[in-house]
Amino acid sequence: MEEIRKVCVIGAGVMGAGIAAQAANAGAEVLLLDVPAEGDRNAIAKGALQRLRKTEPAALMHPRNLERIEPGNIDDHLPKIAGFDWIIEAVVELLDVKRDLYARIEGLRGPGSVVSSNTSTLPLADLTEGLPKSFRRAFLITHFFNPPRYMRLLEIVTGPETASETVERVRAFADRSMGKNIVAAKDTPGFIANRIGTFWLQAAVTEAVHRGIGVEEADAVLGRPVGIPKTGVFGLLDLVGLDLMPHILDSLSAALPIGDAFHALGGAPELLHRMILDGYTGRKGKGGFYRLNREGETPVKEVIDLATGAYSPARRPKPGAAKVACRGGLRALVEHQSAEGRYAWAVLSSTLGYAASLVPEIAEDIEAVDHAMRLGYNWKHGPFELLDRLGTRWFEGRLREQGGEVPRLLDVARGRPFYRTHRGRLQQMGLDGTYRDVERPEGVLLLEDVKRRSRPLASNRAASLWDVGDGVACLEFHTKMNALDPFSLSMIERSVAAVPRHGLTALVLYNEGSNFSAGANIAMLLVTGKLRLWPAIDWILRKGQRAFARLREAPFPVVGAPSGMALGGGCEVLLHCDAIVAHAETYMGLVEAGVGIVPGWGGCASMLERGAEAPDQPKGPMPPVMKAFETIAMASVSRSADQARGLGFLRSGDDVVMNRDRLLAAAKEKALDLARDYQPPAPAEFRLPGPSGRAALDLAVGDFVRKGVATDHDATVARALARVLTGGDTDVMDAMSADQVRDLERAALIDLARTPETQARVAHMLKTGKPLRN
Ligand code: NAI
Repeated sequence: MEEIRKVCVIGAGVMGAGIAAQAANAGAEVLLLDVPAEGDRNAIAKGALQRLRKTEPAALMHPRNLERIEPGNIDDHLPKIAGFDWIIEAVVELLDVKRDLYARIEGLRGPGSVVSSNTSTLPLADLTEGLPKSFRRAFLITHFFNPPRYMRLLEIVTGPETASETVERVRAFADRSMGKNIVAAKDTPGFIANRIGTFWLQAAVTEAVHRGIGVEEADAVLGRPVGIPKTGVFGLLDLVGLDLMPHILDSLSAALPIGDAFHALGGAPELLHRMILDGYTGRKGKGGFYRLNREGETPVKEVIDLATGAYSPARRPKPGAAKVACRGGLRALVEHQSAEGRYAWAVLSSTLGYAASLVPEIAEDIEAVDHAMRLGYNWKHGPFELLDRLGTRWFEGRLREQGGEVPRLLDVARGRPFYRTHRGRLQQMGLDGTYRDVERPEGVLLLEDVKRRSRPLASNRAASLWDVGDGVACLEFHTKMNALDPFSLSMIERSVAAVPRHGLTALVLYNEGSNFSAGANIAMLLVTGKLRLWPAIDWILRKGQRAFARLREAPFPVVGAPSGMALGGGCEVLLHCDAIVAHAETYMGLVEAGVGIVPGWGGCASMLERGAEAPDQPKGPMPPVMKAFETIAMASVSRSADQARGLGFLRSGDDVVMNRDRLLAAAKEKALDLARDYQPPAPAEFRLPGPSGRAALDLAVGDFVRKGVATDHDATVARALARVLTGGDTDVMDAMSADQVRDLERAALIDLARTPETQARVAHMLKTGKPLRN
């Protein structure tokens, strides 16, 4: 099977542009076509490229990826598709427009090429009707979610005639190169995620209107307590745009059979239409269910009254039901004797019941449904996992009590859970009521599966060490946000000792949290600072420096495998690894300056060492110092793994993996590769410029203060950093060890921690999660 290298995207709107960007991020050569415009005939596609430069969150993993996308128009450039492997249609949602285009594509595309549609509602059977067999063999639906870079779900729908090579080719590229998790959906309206997601949103809105539940109360009970992003329902609608809702509701309603439970929910409420007419289309418009009132001196967050349409200041209430759920779980929430508790039950019972009634109509098995809802709507648990949390017997009993219809799958379950762990493997219930293994795609290794079948080799409250097979150990952090504390550091040291003791040959640092690590737990800094316990800060700094140095010096290879944020100490620990295999969505940065300190766990020493090794670095003692100074003083954070290379966090031998689920397997493979003839790196030796270099950096800092880009305390922090990076009072002729640089790090950090400005920064960060510029 030939790999896909060239991708043509037709339709340069929201989705087409986003898909083109992700194909370029994947390394493909991309042609992006739209209809010809007047004047510059390529203007529409060119305009899309202009927008891609500025989209937030960024669609491109690196600005240079834009060069891989060539803009054009379908009248002049469609014949070019002859040289393309995959043609993705993402034009307006009109059947005739799409079918006309397919007829033209069929006459021009090359042999072996595949064609797909990004349609969200049109059935594959209708799209391909009347088209030649050769087209039907090469065609499938690939339904991306918005924004295509960040949403990991890709639903694919195949027809009875779609050739298996067609599917396999798209799967391979979409999974490994574009990083998508593929869920096979059946050719039914809305496929999986939107079918259930739209029902859920509509049920939540109509029940709230009907029961007189406030917008904030609804979001509070349906958000966090259910494991749904804290935007809840109304916040989510504001985010996606209220004007889309009537279209989605109408098209689903037109496509679904008469008896479908969706129809009973009714159309969009009257208020929604009024809001759209008045320009209240959500965050992109004047506001939505929530709005920011900027009339006064300070902007005020306001919320709409669903009955009257009037806005009043948001109160951020936490209904009793939501609090109960935090302690007593999901069942306590839906059993809570309050209007909110009854509301939560009404929405959840109808949505979960609906989901249960749709298998096998929309998907082959329940896991496909859960997978689609987790990745397409960012639910923490899919509907069947939620049913297990409620208890299938209890849920069924309550439905019966209320005279509701019990879906067949719940009958089949007979009170047993939809998922179980059997002999260490995750199993799901089939349609016949028997359990079968949940299969992972080939080459996918998940720590969650390892944890099901084994016990940790070592563990404490902050981290655990696992045997992930073939002689490789995996150190998992598991504190809140994976912040590093003394327990995490102890586990690092214990792991270095445990790996050879258990006869293992390599170590991987990896976890399945949303973020690899948000950095050192700075609450310690605040407490010790308040009590003036400077020796305690020195102790924790020494402990971290020693633990990370042990990783670097270990007699076996250590591979860091981050995904999400790896900040501060979370970045420093990675800088001590022999290699990094990063998920493409890795946001690395030494952000210490933001809280008024310098990296103190060997981060400065590591950056100097990396800078000196970089192949493209000009010679002399200053360039690596300047580079490290710039990155650390600016607290730069990479917006992708690709950009982490430019910042010097990743080295040329480090790898980037697009699919999150393939990260552990790739890191393990790298570790085994390195283990073959492993030699620990030689101790670092530095020749640093000393006071003359520091003077140069101090001058630059002074300039920034004069220009107003840096505050006085920024300058204090930057000068302290300059002293560390230039080697203190050293002379360029003297060799310095990493330990000596680490001594300077500790001294600088403790000096800064003593300042009231740094203490204010730390306190502010802990309180608000944002840096204070003082
Ligand atoms: P859009 O309205 O932003 O963009 C559509 C683009 O297609 C426009 O630039 C238009 O000029 C172009 N176009 C129209 N006819 C054309 C033709 N014959 N040849 C070439 N270009 C043509 O639409 P959007 O939102 O990007 O949607 C595109 C497709 O993706 C639709 O099928 C939609 O249902 C689907 N979809 C949309 C999602 C979303 O969140 N917006 C999510 C998933 C799928």
